[in-house]
Parts: sequence; structure tokens; C-alpha cells
Amino acid sequence: MNSAPPPQSAAPPVYDWEGFGFDTRQVHAGEYPDRNSGLRVPPIALSAGYLFDDFDDQVSRFDGSIHWRADEHAGHGEAGGFSPSEHAPIYSRQGNPTNWVAEERLASLEGGTVSVAVASGQAAISAALFALAQQGDHIVSTGSIYGGTRILFGRSFKRFGIEFDYVWDAENDAEWERAIRPDTKAIYTETIPNPRNDITDLRRIAEVAARYNLPVVVDNTVGTPALIRPFEHGCHIVVHSTTKFLTGHGAAVGGAVVDGGTFDWEAAERAGRSYPLVTQSSRPGVAPMLERFGRGAYARAVRESVVNDIGPTLSPFHGFLLHQGMETLSLRMERHVESSLRIATWLEEQPEVESVDYAGLPSNPLHGLAVRDYGADAAGRGRTGSVFGVTVRGGIDGARAFVNGLRVFSRMTGIGDTRSMVLHPLTSTHGTFAPEVNGRLGITPGLLRLSVGLESADDLIRDLRGALDAVRAL
Ligand SMILES: Cc1ncc(COP(=O)(O)O)c(C=O)c1O
Repeated sequence: MNSAPPPQSAAPPVYDWEGFGFDTRQVHAGEYPDRNSGLRVPPIALSAGYLFDDFDDQVSRFDGSIHWRADEHAGHGEAGGFSPSEHAPIYSRQGNPTNWVAEERLASLEGGTVSVAVASGQAAISAALFALAQQGDHIVSTGSIYGGTRILFGRSFKRFGIEFDYVWDAENDAEWERAIRPDTKAIYTETIPNPRNDITDLRRIAEVAARYNLPVVVDNTVGTPALIRPFEHGCHIVVHSTTKFLTGHGAAVGGAVVDGGTFDWEAAERAGRSYPLVTQSSRPGVAPMLERFGRGAYARAVRESVVNDIGPTLSPFHGFLLHQGMETLSLRMERHVESSLRIATWLEEQPEVESVDYAGLPSNPLHGLAVRDYGADAAGRGRTGSVFGVTVRGGIDGARAFVNGLRVFSRMTGIGDTRSMVLHPLTSTHGTFAPEVNGRLGITPGLLRLSVGLESADDLIRDLRGALDAVRAL
């Protein structure tokens, strides 16, 4: 007679994904098992508000004596199942369980402590900088940044009394010396600026920032944590337009701010740079964010003192698309880069092409930096993403013929999704800038921005060949 097998309890699932590989974390980090329904995929939690257990629970949520576990990067607990009181939320303008999955996943992929999801990339940049600077303050940015960000700095930030200066040559100490002032509160930069793919030396900028006790805020939209993680290069805060590679399919506008947890706010205060939202109490009887939340204090200030006030909240529907999109990030980036390298190399050889701006190509002056920071493929080319410039012969007429000749590439503003896209920067993103600014940025009449998608590279090359035939026929 067979005896019954001894009772065996199943191994508990993993709740804390720290220490696992990138590909594992992009699938799992931030997920919470729903023990009530058994749902495997974190659902879309559509609720504007949350139940309070009783009178005292409401009091403690509002007075800050209990706070959200999601903000502590603490995982979702061995007990399993989402329990509102475990997170102590108040209202979805500040956060939402669907968005917490995306936030924890992104913080894990970037190697940061806490992230805050918001409604767009522009909202992320604004929230990140409003938490650092106020009227009368100043920020230094590198010169080559996304056109919309330059407009945001020169228009809305200016109206709020926050000024910007630009450094064009990050290698040049004298430029930094001239730009940084006693009231400077941050250095702003991007990993892979578009359209020229003129990558930034983050380590160099982090060195300058350390000298002046300044936090470095990096837009990693085009790089993504699959290719580069700015915290590993000494930077302190990362912002994203999640509209692009992170959500990945071109369907949802979104953004995020990630706190690296490494900036020494107290040392900055001692050096005369004050960050009141992080280091000072905002309400009588409530300790400063830094005291309460330590390495996640800045993100908490972004969430509570900026996003909750101004209200650029991410819809949970878009939060769902974001956490689902990130599940395949590294696989997509692999293909984006592989196709881009093939196409950029091919374009360089075509007679109708004057130049290709892809930092990873051996012909590019930034090739050494590209390989150091982004790694190389088997042919020694640096893996600097999939958004780059190509300049065709014939100036504006050449550009028009090229754009009109494309059939697979979509003519649209946008980068970083499954589709390949083309845009003429001089008459779009950079259309309002002074000629000197466009001159410095290398935005010329014949320059086109390409964002290489996930279609077959053979088909994309055939499409580009057709468009170059139209240029040749001019
Ligand atoms: C590098 C970069 N940062 C920020 C943004 C703004 O993002 P969003 O359109 O999500 O507001 C963009 C948009 O193209 C971008 O390319």
C-alpha cells in the first residue's frame, strides 16, 4: 500500500527583488500578489480614494505618523496581497497601487531608492526641479538637450523666477566656473541628447557637481536603464519621459522622477546651498523629509510637496501600460540598438548622405566615450541607443524629398517606440530657437532625426534607400 506523501509547504514567492538580474527585475520588481483574486498581472486600480480603517487611521495618514511603504522601497510584504493600510495612501493624486508597481520597478532598474510616476516627461522634469529650486534660484544645464525642455526652461521656469545658464563644453572648467553661482541649485543634463546623439560624459559632470555640492539631474529617456544607469556614474536624480522606450509602444504619455538616494543634502546645506523641501519641516510638529525618509527623502518631497500640490498625476491606466512595457525593456533595447548600428553604418556609406550623428560609430568623435559608457558590439561600435541624426545632401529640399520618400518610417514627432519615425528638427522641435542656438546645436536644414523601431532592419534599409533615391533625383 502506498503511503501518503509527507505534507510539504511551498516555497514562498520572492517579495524583494534586490540582488536579482536586470531581466528578472524588469519582469517582477514592484509586483504584488493579489491573494484575494489570484490575479497574476497587477491590475489597474481605478479608485480616486482609499478607505480609512477608522477615525484614528485617518488622523495618522494625514499627520504623517504612518506612511506609505512604497516610499521606503520596502517591497510588498511577506503577508502578500495589497492592503491599503499597509501603504497608508490618502488619495490617488499622490499615488496609486498600479503606479506603485511601475515606480518600484523603475527605481529597481535605475538602481535608485524611490521613484514617482507623473503624467508626462515634461511634468517629471518640472517636478524634479521644482523640488530643488524656487523663485530667485538658478540651474545650470548642458547645452544639448531636448528642444521642449529648453522651451520649458526659457518660458515657464523663467516666469516662475528660476533662471538657467547653459554650458556647451562640459570639459571646460572655465565654462562651469562662469555658469555656477551661489544660488545655483542643480546641474541638469541628458544621457543621449537628440537629434544629434551627442552623448554626455556623466562622470565628468558628476565630478564638477561634487566640487560645488550640487545634485545632478539626468534625463535618461533616450538612454534607458537598459543601456546606461546614471547613478552608477555619480549622478543623483533621474527623470524620464516614460512615453518613449519604457512604456515602449507609443500609446501612453507619462513620466517619472527617480531618487538615487546618494546626494548629501546636509553637506550641501553646510556649503550654503539650501533645499528646504528636503531638509526643513513643512508643518509644525512634523520632522523634515530627510529625517523621516532618509535616502528616499527627495522623492517624498517631489511626491508630497510638488506633485500633490500641482497635480500632474499619472493615470493608473497609463501606469499599467508602463509597468507592463518595462517587462520587455532590455529585449527591445537590444533590437533597437542592433538595427540602429546596422542602419547608421549603412547610411554613412550612401552618396546622398553628408553625415550621420551616431556616437557609437568609429568615425564619431565621441566613439571612445560611447564604448566606455554604453559598451560595444562585436564590431567595436558603441551602443548609444536608437535616436540619431542623418544629414542628407540638398539642404531643406533634400530633407523634404527624403521625408516624403519614406513609407515605413512614420512622419511624426515622437521617439522610442516600436515604430520607426522621422522628423525635421529645424522646422519642428527647434523651430523657435535663435539661429545661434541652432548653429551651436548643429541643427541644419538637411538634418533629419530618425528613431529606429523594431521592424525588420532589411525593410527599414529598403525604405531609406527609396527616400535617398528621391534625394538623388532632385
Ligand atoms: C529627452 C526627452 N525628455 C523629455 C521629453 C518630454 O516628454 P513628454 O512628451 O512625455 O512630456 C521628451 C519628449 O520628446 C524627450 O525626448
